[in-house]
Order: sequence, then structure tokens, then C-alpha cells
Amino acid sequence: MQPLATDMPVAVIGAGAMGAGIAQVAAQAGHRVFLLDQREGAAEAGRQSIAKQLQRRVDKGKMEQSALDSLLDRIKPISELSELAGAGLVIEAIVEDLEIKRSLLANLEDVCGEQTILATNTSSISVTALGANMKHPERLVGMHFFNPAPLMALVEVIKGLATANEIAQSVYATAAQWGKKPVIATSTPGFIVNRVARPFYAESLRLLQEQATDSVTLDAVLREAGSFRMGPFELTDLIGHDVNYAVTCSVFNAYYQDTRFLPSLVQKELVDAGHLGRKSGQGFYSYAEGAQKPEPATAGLMSCDADTLIVEGNPGPLAALVTRLSASGLKVIERDGPGRLRFGEAVLALTDGRMATERAAADACNNLVLLDLAFDYDKAGRLAMAAADQASSQAVNDACALLQKAGMAVSHIADRPGLVVMRTVATLVNEAADAALHGVASMGDIDLAMKAGLNYPEGPLRWSDDLGFSLVHTVLTHIQQSYGEDRYRPALLLRKNRFAEKGFYS
Ligand code: NAI
Repeated sequence: MQPLATDMPVAVIGAGAMGAGIAQVAAQAGHRVFLLDQREGAAEAGRQSIAKQLQRRVDKGKMEQSALDSLLDRIKPISELSELAGAGLVIEAIVEDLEIKRSLLANLEDVCGEQTILATNTSSISVTALGANMKHPERLVGMHFFNPAPLMALVEVIKGLATANEIAQSVYATAAQWGKKPVIATSTPGFIVNRVARPFYAESLRLLQEQATDSVTLDAVLREAGSFRMGPFELTDLIGHDVNYAVTCSVFNAYYQDTRFLPSLVQKELVDAGHLGRKSGQGFYSYAEGAQKPEPATAGLMSCDADTLIVEGNPGPLAALVTRLSASGLKVIERDGPGRLRFGEAVLALTDGRMATERAAADACNNLVLLDLAFDYDKAGRLAMAAADQASSQAVNDACALLQKAGMAVSHIADRPGLVVMRTVATLVNEAADAALHGVASMGDIDLAMKAGLNYPEGPLRWSDDLGFSLVHTVLTHIQQSYGEDRYRPALLLRKNRFAEKGFYS
């Protein structure tokens, strides 16, 4: 399908944070852009803010002044809807309100020709519901940019029930032409990113509530072991707790209170207190002048007399850790066994979703210390570990010393099911697998959306495959048994993969 021709004007309605950014993207792609806002002066202010943003690029020598001048010439603030009649694509980015958006769309249908594509940047309203009263709902499509639109690569192209396939395809091609990474999704609550990402916040909030460790340590573990760009508490402080909590509540209610999306009382407390994050000066962290961010909990340097790591059987993903330890000069010997490591008194294994205490009892192995998942054990700067209640303090020290030999900072957290990164990744995979099962988007688009929209180090479904076809299913089954909650029920596709002995992509 062809993208919108560059000589076709684009209209953007609403010149706020998103509208101005979208206007910039369209103008950068060479379109003439009409910018309209009901607030007097807002469209001109939007154009000024684009000029200010891009002037920085000119000052740094990254853009020619003449290119900026001609780009700004292409952006025309307008004050009447009738002035955008010639636009080939109209993108609305006005206030997030169903009735106000519906009324705007009705006016647009009166003004625009039948060939004009109408797009909405809504982040939470059903595209199907927005199209319900339109004369031609087949030409309405979601075009969900992320903030800031000029910088974020992802555009979710959302098909409502009535959206014509060729309209969605044309908007997809247009977004790609504009240098974005588009994905196609059906109009379901949260679309892809705002749905699949819920566990990233929810599981850390829950671990915090269960006093597994503190927020700064959870953030550090997810960054340094999980390779996520930001930890969930830093990120929600940046997004604003009012906004993040409202999205969670909206997705929770839209899915008929499925406990998988249950909002957190910890976050509600922050909202109630007005601790909204950076914008209010206080969230999980203080942003007051001179405030220092606390340090993550990190074990002090341990020594251990042992000089040999014994690898019993196939340690699975921990094999990369063994390689790192071996490269650091530690002697490694291998023998048969259930996929565990022995060092001094410690018996170490990758978490399988059970608490260390439970697994130590089941395996009659008192000195069990469980290790968290790392995105890349070869590069991880930190790893979380949790010890069984039965473990000796010597075993805990020895486990710590082993990880320190690999050059890792160690965060010894309380014994909770699935630790931190494993639990987060497993629940993200679960949500992604359900979204795929329900036809929200293709598996490739779900993975792409999570990488391009949130900078995840890997798409959840690909990540699951990399861990082996059954690991995530096992982890979720165990977490579900620990809590006895439906929230952790493994997705059908994970269960199917397990029996088919294959991954999502294989
Ligand atoms: P904003 O409040 O910064 O801007 C909205 C603008 O629309 C305001 O300038 C307002 O005067 C104008 N407006 C309101 N009603 C209007 C009408 N009937 N006609 C013309 N102009 C009107 O809001 P923001 O953040 O730019 O959001 C706009 C849309 O984008 C919403 O649907 C929001 O859900 C969506 N969105 C927001 C994201 C964000 O991170 N802020 C991310 C992705 C989507």
C-alpha cells in the first residue's frame, strides 16, 4: 500500500505536547502541515516550540538553518476547521474525551473530502467507539504516537472494527515513510504497549509491597541485570504516578477487573499524597534541590576459601555465568546433576518461580541460594539472589562471594517467588502471549512495539524463546502455585509451546 504522497498536506488538530510533536514529524517528512487548536494562540505556540526544539539542532550543526526555515514555512497555524479541507490526512491529538473527540470527528466529516484519512492519537479510547457515529467509520484509524513524538520510533496503527484494511495499511506505510517503526494492532484496551507493559510496573510494586527489598534496589536490578533502560520506579516517577495509575485503572476496568491488571495500593498512596513524581518534586524519590538518590542494597565484599566451582548438570541460562566465572580464573569442574552450581557451602540455581525455602525443602537441599535472571550474564553489573530460610550464613556468604568473583554487585533480597527480573520477564511474556493469542497484533509486531516504544532490551516473546520453550511456563506455574492467584495463570500459548516443545518463533 502506498504512503500518503508528500505533496498532500497533513492537518494536526490539538497543538499540545503530542500535536506539536506530530506536526514536526510530518513537516520533517516534507508535508505541508496545518496546525489547529481551539485555544487562542496555541497553534502558533506549537509552531514556536518546534522552532525552539530544532534551533538546538541548527546550533549544534546537525541541521541547516535553511532546512529549518523551510520546515517552519511548511507549518501553518490555522484557526478554522474549513481551512484544512485539502488535507490528505488529519490527525487529531485533542483532549482525551470520547464525546469531544466524536464531535470533532463529525465536524471533520462535514469539512473533509471523502478521500481524507482521519486518524486519532488517542492512547486509551476505543477507535471502534470513536467511529460508531461516523458516516464513514472505515476511514478512521488510530495513529498512536509516543511522547516525545519526534524522538520515539513507535507508532501503533490501530484498526477499529470498521476501519478499512487499506486505510490502516496506508497509514502504516506513511508512518514508515516518516521514519517511524509502525505496528498494526486491533482496538483493544491499552492497544499493545500500554497493555503488555503493565506487569513491568505491577510486579515491582508488588515486590515492594511484600518488602522483597526497597525501590532503589529493584530499579537497579532491573537496569543492571535486566538491561531495561530505566527501573519501574524511576520510570513512573518520570511518567507521573497520576498518569501511570490512571492507565492501570483504565486497563484493569476495561478488562473487566482481570486481576492480571490489578492496580497497586502502594501507587495509590503516592497519588493520594500528591507525590506524583518528578513533576511534584517527590515520588518514590525526592527531586528537591540537592536531594541525593539513595544507593541500592549491595552486599559487602565476601571471601570464600573455595577455589572450584562445581557445575552439576546443565545449568541452563546460567551457563553464561559459568563461562564468565571461568574467564575470571575460577576453576570449573562438571559432573552430572540437576542443573545446579556448588561453591563452598552454597548450592546455587536459577529461580524456577518457587521460593528458595520451598525448593530447598522439596529437594532436601538446605543451602540453596536462588539466582535471578539476567538479560546477559556476561555483561550484567548486578544480580539479585535469595536464600532459603534453611541455608547457613556461610552458604549465603559463599554464594555472594561467587558472584563477586564474576565482578557483579550482589543484591540479596528477601525470598519471594521468581525474584525480580525473572518474575518481571515471565509476566511480560505472559501478557504478550495472551495479546498474540487474542489477535491484538502479530508476535513480531508485539515484540517490535515493546522494543521501539519502551526501549526493552528484547521483545518478550523472543526473550522467552531465548530462555527455552518451557522455562517461562514453569516459572509462572510455580508463582501461581505460591500465591494461589489467577493473576499468574500461564497463557495458553505458553502451555501449548511446552507440549509442542517449541518456541513462539520456531
Ligand atoms: P495536551 O493537553 O498537551 O494538548 C491537547 C490540546 O488540544 C490542547 O492544546 C487543547 O487546547 C487542544 N484541544 C482540546 N480540545 C480541542 C478541540 N475540540 N479542538 C481543537 N483543539 C482542542 O494533551 P496531549 O498530551 O498532547 O494529548 C493529546 C492526545 O494525545 C490525547 O488523546 C492523549 O491521550 C494522546 N496521547 C498523549 C500522550 C502523552 O504522553 N501525553 C502519548 C500518546 C497519546
